[in-house]
Amino acid sequence: MKLFHTFSHAILALFITGITTACGGGSEPYTPEAPVLKIPSKKGQTAGGKIPSEMKSLLAKNTCLGCHKMDSKLVGPSFLAIAQRGYSQKELVQLIKEPVPENWPDYPPMAPMAWVESEQIEAMAAWIASLPQE
Ligand code: HEC
Repeated sequence: MKLFHTFSHAILALFITGITTACGGGSEPYTPEAPVLKIPSKKGQTAGGKIPSEMKSLLAKNTCLGCHKMDSKLVGPSFLAIAQRGYSQKELVQLIKEPVPENWPDYPPMAPMAWVESEQIEAMAAWIASLPQE
């Protein structure tokens, strides 16, 4: 409960700062063009990486995006880092169903995603295998 109070105070403080800035009370001039909310692009691409929108929904639906991002480390390695390993689609299907944590010693082990429908695992594996390997 204490945490919640601290949190709501922080929100309140942010809110008040926002209002004073908007009224010209802040030391910085108020710039109406400053982006407040990022409106997602029509192509469904993420800010940094480029996950096609259909793949993004599939990855989101199967909770992958909770731990993986396109081009930077999250809980797990980025999809681009995984692609660097040069796995085939078949190998990726297997690794998604039965992860081999020894492959990524700097990370916690990934839970087996065998509950995800095979067809969907195949589609995600094909996409990862198609990513550039620089
Ligand atoms: C709870 C967090 C979490 C979720 C959810 C998750 N991953 Fe992972 N993933 C990891 C971590 C951590 C690693 C690195 C350690 C490992 O492989 O066990 C990893 C590794 C991987 C690898 C590399 C395997 C290897 O051995 O090189 C692939 C491919 C992968 N994940 C795909 C997926 C896909 C696809 C999904 C969704 C179906 C998914 N992950 C969901 C955390 C997660």
